[in-house]
Amino acid sequence: MSETTLTESMQVLSFTSAAERDSQHKLTPINDTLTTAQETMKAFTFLGTGKGAKWQDVSKPTLMDPTEIIGKVKATTICGSDPQIINGLLPTTCKVADSKPGRGITLGHEGVVEILEVGSEVKNLKKGDLCILPAILNHCGCCHLCNRKVQYTCPKTHYPGVFMDGMLAEFIRVPHADDTLLLAPSNVSLESLVMLSDALPTSYEIGVEGKVQEGDRVAVFGCGPVGLSAILTATIKNPAMLIAIDTNEHRLQIAKKIGATHLLNPTQPDFAQRVIQLTSGQQFSDRKPGVDVAIDCAGKSGSVTVAQQLVTVGGKVAVVACGIPETPVNFFELQKKSITLSSGFLSGHSVEYLTELVANGTLDPSPLVSHKFKLSEIEKAYDVFSHAVENNTIKVLLVNDD
Ligand SMILES: NC(=O)c1ccc[n+]([C@@H]2O[C@H](COP(=O)([O-])OP(=O)(O)OC[C@H]3O[C@@H](n4cnc5c(N)ncnc54)[C@H](O)[C@@H]3O)[C@@H](O)[C@H]2O)c1
Ligand SMILES: [Zn+2]
Ligand SMILES: [Zn+2]
Repeated sequence: MSETTLTESMQVLSFTSAAERDSQHKLTPINDTLTTAQETMKAFTFLGTGKGAKWQDVSKPTLMDPTEIIGKVKATTICGSDPQIINGLLPTTCKVADSKPGRGITLGHEGVVEILEVGSEVKNLKKGDLCILPAILNHCGCCHLCNRKVQYTCPKTHYPGVFMDGMLAEFIRVPHADDTLLLAPSNVSLESLVMLSDALPTSYEIGVEGKVQEGDRVAVFGCGPVGLSAILTATIKNPAMLIAIDTNEHRLQIAKKIGATHLLNPTQPDFAQRVIQLTSGQQFSDRKPGVDVAIDCAGKSGSVTVAQQLVTVGGKVAVVACGIPETPVNFFELQKKSITLSSGFLSGHSVEYLTELVANGTLDPSPLVSHKFKLSEIEKAYDVFSHAVENNTIKVLLVNDD
């Protein structure tokens, strides 16, 4: 299946009603004809299919529903999915952006907002509160999909920066604010708070939660922001071994800093042999060689296949990466070793738990921030983020200019 059809089918299955609702009713009014009387702000908007993105004047959001808040974006970041959106990988987002010529849709789904205005039905938040915005805004929490912890498939979920205006702007309108925003602990840095919207919970929910157990031998393929977040959150489970795998030496060194016990380059000729050696040591004499859990955060052709091959009997392969080119899955091999294969998207149910761990010092995601910019420097930041290898970029922190 091609990348586009994969993404398309995902949307057809679960996102269409939310997308239509957001595009029809919930987008900030369009500033096609900005007048001097209209309040404006700057936003980084995706302009539509093949049209790229730019930092431009748009109308400042206003409350459209009593459950909403208007927040000032204090800090935000760029996700690996933003270039994918700009490159047209999400057809529904293209459709939303195409329907607003010159304006498009504001990107961004991570960060921290300071509340400026509160709708009349908002009970638990007040002006001045600093809140984490989860990358998906789920306000249902009680249907069978939410109960299964797949909130991303719940038709009531909103997606900032994907189907409604997002965080790469000076201000944002947040629907169902009481249920969707999380008060930021006062002792946590902006760097760390921003990692709690998407990077940490995505990797934790799809790669670690329910997969990694104490004493496991774990391998993480790919040490970009997502893989590094998987390594960091896997440390919560106290694995016996945490092998970071990447071709990029700089990223491997960050992996070591945040908890990886072994670093491997998959292009080394003896790579597979090294995994077998490491997992067959004296301390594992009661187990078969191979890793107990392989977490694929590389998203490159072959990485899932290699991950499957290196998993031991009864082990697990968790696929966090998306847009993976067609990958052969040899089910007989999986059956012979009783391997469980799983995947998914962020649901956001772990944001509160991970925030507690960051606040109490158990987790420190700040090493994931490699560069800092003012929000107004977003086009420069986007360039640095897009050329990650040349710039040793992991995540860029964008802080409000005030
Ligand atoms: N499931 C979700 O909800 C979700 C959310 C966000 C991102 N993602 C996906 O996660 C993946 C990773 O995102 P990212 O931002 O960290 O990307 P990234 O491109 O920054 O990182 C990928 C890393 O994998 C390494 N790599 C490439 N081939 C490899 C191989 N064969 N073995 C090991 N490492 C290899 C690269 O050197 C790179 O460091 C992407 O596919 C992204 O689309 C999924
Ligand atoms: Zn993201
Ligand atoms: Zn639901």
